[in-house]
Amino acid sequence: MADVQQVRQYAALSLDRLWPRLELTFRDDVSRAPVDWQAFETRLRHEWDQLFGLLFNLYGGHYDFFYHLEVLLHAVARSWFERSPWLKRLDTRREAEPLWFQSQQMVGGMCYTDLFAGNLQGLREKLPVFKQLGLTYLHLMPLFESPEGNSDGGYAVSSYRQLNPKLGTIQELADLAHEFQEQGISLVLDFVFNHTSDEHEWARLAQAGDLEYENFYFLFPDRTIPDIYERTLREIFPTVRRGSFTWREDIHKWVWTTFNSFQWDLNYGNPAVFRAMAQEMLAIANLGVEILRLDAVAFIWKREGTNCENQPEAHQIIQAFHCLARIAAPALRFKSEAIVHPDDVMSYISPQECQISYNPLLMALLWESLATGEVKLLDHSLSHRFRLPHGTSWVNYVRSHDDIGWTFDDNDARWEWIDPFGHRNFLNQFYMGRFPGSFARGVPFQENPDTGDARISGTLASLAGLEQAIHAGNEQQIDLAVRRILMVHSIILSIGGIPLIYLGDEVGTLNDYAFSADPDKADDSRWVHRPRTDWSWREKVAHDPLSPHGRIFAELVHLIALRKRQTAIFDGETEFVETGNAHLFGYVRNGGGQRLFTIASFSAQPQEMDANLLRSYGSGYLFTDLITGQTVSAEQSLRLEPYQCVWLELVSTS
Ligand code: GLC
Ligand code: GLC
Repeated sequence: MADVQQVRQYAALSLDRLWPRLELTFRDDVSRAPVDWQAFETRLRHEWDQLFGLLFNLYGGHYDFFYHLEVLLHAVARSWFERSPWLKRLDTRREAEPLWFQSQQMVGGMCYTDLFAGNLQGLREKLPVFKQLGLTYLHLMPLFESPEGNSDGGYAVSSYRQLNPKLGTIQELADLAHEFQEQGISLVLDFVFNHTSDEHEWARLAQAGDLEYENFYFLFPDRTIPDIYERTLREIFPTVRRGSFTWREDIHKWVWTTFNSFQWDLNYGNPAVFRAMAQEMLAIANLGVEILRLDAVAFIWKREGTNCENQPEAHQIIQAFHCLARIAAPALRFKSEAIVHPDDVMSYISPQECQISYNPLLMALLWESLATGEVKLLDHSLSHRFRLPHGTSWVNYVRSHDDIGWTFDDNDARWEWIDPFGHRNFLNQFYMGRFPGSFARGVPFQENPDTGDARISGTLASLAGLEQAIHAGNEQQIDLAVRRILMVHSIILSIGGIPLIYLGDEVGTLNDYAFSADPDKADDSRWVHRPRTDWSWREKVAHDPLSPHGRIFAELVHLIALRKRQTAIFDGETEFVETGNAHLFGYVRNGGGQRLFTIASFSAQPQEMDANLLRSYGSGYLFTDLITGQTVSAEQSLRLEPYQCVWLELVSTS
């Protein structure tokens, strides 16, 4: 293995070789846009050592390494020249305000284009809805061409250059990105790069026996190698098919398929795969995407004898992609989708890798606290797992299109005298509504008969008790469910990071069980929380203050607007505090000239917090609860109504 000095030297030598060749190839473009080219050169030289080092480490042993490097560089330059002028202006703007995504103005929403609005045209017409909610970030679920029928909701991509024709065209998407950006909404799209669908051109060529493309995937003539790997692999979709490999009778081969059988894992040990996917990534960036959601990051590198998750090379690949983005699409930020152990989630987050990450721990523990009514695991876990490196941010969410998995750390649980295995079992029972007294109406996802493991599907409202309460016609239970929904949102809106709303939740959409009649969806219970938006229903309830849905909507719009005025949310760290009450979760944000103290109750009964604690953590005597507008004095203990959340702003220190 070459040492660092030597790699630097190789890097310098190879750039000396490559650069003149690049200039020659692009001489017409260079003479047309010399300033542009200069900017490109500056960024390339800035990233080069890092990029070269990463790629050399990953692929330096391949006989054709320098060939791949040259082809890659040409593709990157080509992509820069193809980048539209408005995006280049955005690049400049974002470089001048690198922390833009941490602003308290940021509020995210996510939806399926077809289920929310039919197609891209329909989605454009929903702009007023997004504006009313105050969204500045819109994640559209995968829109690219994918197999008819089951395509894992689009997560099986057949072409990264064509949209699913039912949704619209590439040009329409690019226009929408531009239009939304002018309205202050950044487009977020997936980079589904762990796998392609088995209908992708590469997979088809592999099926036809083209050796070059067979090497894009993991194909095996018999069980010898799959069996070796499977000794240490975790099953991700055990109810779809046992194990991680699929037998293809047509080609007489086993194929590595971590997720569904039609999602073929890509082989990143092959430099041609890295290069091909880098080109697809830059093409997606050039559509006008500002945040790229890196799907299933944990799985992209396989190593015998391990669970093939979170391998060091996975980080190197993402970092190399990131260098390329810095060079040719500098406005782009990476968001990690790693729904794994909290230590591993953290490992993807850095300014050089993913600047943004889902926070699955907060998500899972909010549900855990709602089930137990106690906040000890939430508080203990976050007190040492929330802080992030400078220049990076969480995406905090309550629900998404996926299931809920109980990804807390076992030792964090034991620290609080909780048995992790038994507790996960309890949480599953609770959210499946099988536990006595449970308010939840969830559905099991991927119950594994061998391990007893399971995850939970269900909409926010159904899991929070609204479905059951409405069916029972119980006004008091309806009220409690609405309070739960608002309380968890008050947390993701104030804790620091980007709050992300799974659209539909803002009106308390309930589970839709009709999916089980559709053979393409019946085997995947996540469809229970992916209903098609019924706009006539929605328009009716969203503005009806007497309906629980209308109440949720109005309050949420209020909370979002409130969040956007709190400077402490942008500029500051989150300090978790001991509230002295097992049901109360508290944290302080101090920054931007403001001290903001959030206290949230996870109890269905009124609760109190001691006046002394209020004084010491609040650093004063008089506060305003920004949510209700009421004055709170620390002369007496603080009383919280069931599931109430207060945002206390310090008014006076004496
Ligand atoms: C991610 C997606 C999930 C999908 C999987 C495979 O986890 O969020 O919906 O099934 O990747 O692409
Ligand atoms: C970053 C931000 C901080 C935020 C944290 C979690 O450290 O600077 O404001 O609380 O990320 O998202």
